[in-house]
Amino acid sequence: MKQNKNNIPVWNVRISKNGSTVFQKVGSSINIDRRLYKEDIQVSIVHTEMLFKQKIISFKVKNKIIWGLNKIKNEIIKKKFNFSTIHEDIHMNIEKRLFEIIGDDAGFVHTGRSRNDQVITDLKLWLQSSTKEINNLLISIMKSILKISEDNIKTIMPGFTHLKNAQPISFAHYLLAYIEMFKRDKNRFTHNLITLSENPLGSAALSGTSFNIDRNYTTKKLKFSKPTDNSIDAVSDRDFVIDFLYSVSVCSLHISRFAEDFIIWNSDAFKLIKLNDKIVTGSSIMPQKKNPDPLEFLRGKTGSAYGNLISMLTILKGLPLSYFKDLQDDKELVFKSYDQIKYSLQILNEILKNFSVDKKRMYEFAGEGYTTATDLADYIVKDLKISFRRAYEITSSIVNYAEKNKKRLSDLSINDIKKIEPRLKDEVIEIFDLKNSIKSKKSYGGTAFENIKKMIKKYKKEIK
Ligand code: ARG
Repeated sequence: MKQNKNNIPVWNVRISKNGSTVFQKVGSSINIDRRLYKEDIQVSIVHTEMLFKQKIISFKVKNKIIWGLNKIKNEIIKKKFNFSTIHEDIHMNIEKRLFEIIGDDAGFVHTGRSRNDQVITDLKLWLQSSTKEINNLLISIMKSILKISEDNIKTIMPGFTHLKNAQPISFAHYLLAYIEMFKRDKNRFTHNLITLSENPLGSAALSGTSFNIDRNYTTKKLKFSKPTDNSIDAVSDRDFVIDFLYSVSVCSLHISRFAEDFIIWNSDAFKLIKLNDKIVTGSSIMPQKKNPDPLEFLRGKTGSAYGNLISMLTILKGLPLSYFKDLQDDKELVFKSYDQIKYSLQILNEILKNFSVDKKRMYEFAGEGYTTATDLADYIVKDLKISFRRAYEITSSIVNYAEKNKKRLSDLSINDIKKIEPRLKDEVIEIFDLKNSIKSKKSYGGTAFENIKKMIKKYKKEIK
């Protein structure tokens, strides 16, 4: 019987006709899942060692298989491996090559396992290390933000609601808001490691295996924390894929909000920050232009991250248990999202290192739009011992007066103010000082300079 000859699929005895060439071209996943080669070989080696330990294969066969697998790994690293679409995916490509290298003994490697458990074991391992890489990038982003924050504790800017000047804040306080977001992202990714630590290997096609395998051994060797409890769920489950794609989506969302903030601040209408030449691009027709393309790129890429998540959710919706070919698309979505978030985080870090703050303009702008009106209302409550709503009305009249006379609140004289509320004292004028306003926001988590200093200290301890 012709067995496992090159260029013939393993199922050639059962399926004698050549398969559709169009389907072979598009149905093969080798160009995507070849990225899993290291994990696939690692998993096969551990599986082989377990088969030997359990006396399912001989010492000689075990050694031959492991030797062959290591040789294949070297071939792939040295780019001497011929990936072929005929053998569908990374698992079959490696098995086929193993036959070429060690002969028929290669036929023992697939004892007690299926590609169905193999592929998700590989993918889970890949996701574990990729998750850690993303976390490291998040740490370096947070460190960059912390550094800029430290240099800008006393940099005053307008805080916005509805993109209208609202209240003065410290620029550092604004940036630290992003530390909170990226911290949550890191926690989200880290949390995913819990389900990623369940080992599906040994679930085989869907029902487990009659061979006396030792799943605890492979679990330990592959550094998982426990074997999965249900073989049907194990091969059907892609929750860990959704979790990853969701975590990337939320992280992307945060990056896009940051990007949008910077795009607005860099705009000619705002001019609060200036992007260095390293992170702008020019126009093909307008010689004067310096456009914030990298920031727009970050904002735009968030769409693809959501798309990948929605694709996976849709693939899984109503899919019966257990394995179906539909699931094969999971890897392309994961790899695309991973590449995108990695590049985005790298670009974001470059942006953080290549912009300057126009502190004077920020301060000026923070004084526009009656941003200390709430401070005045708060002061009136305390000074005149009246309700906030009543103080709010008095303040509104003062703001109306300032607007009518084209003055800032800080330009008003004490006489102007007393015309509206005669009970107010001369000291009220100090309320319009932007620094005083910020200093007064001492409530926990508020923008007071002292609070920010403490928060930076706390973050420095946490982010390592
Ligand atoms: N390439 C396949 C995938 O990624 C591996 C599992 C194939 N299993 C099967 N029964 N066709 O999903």
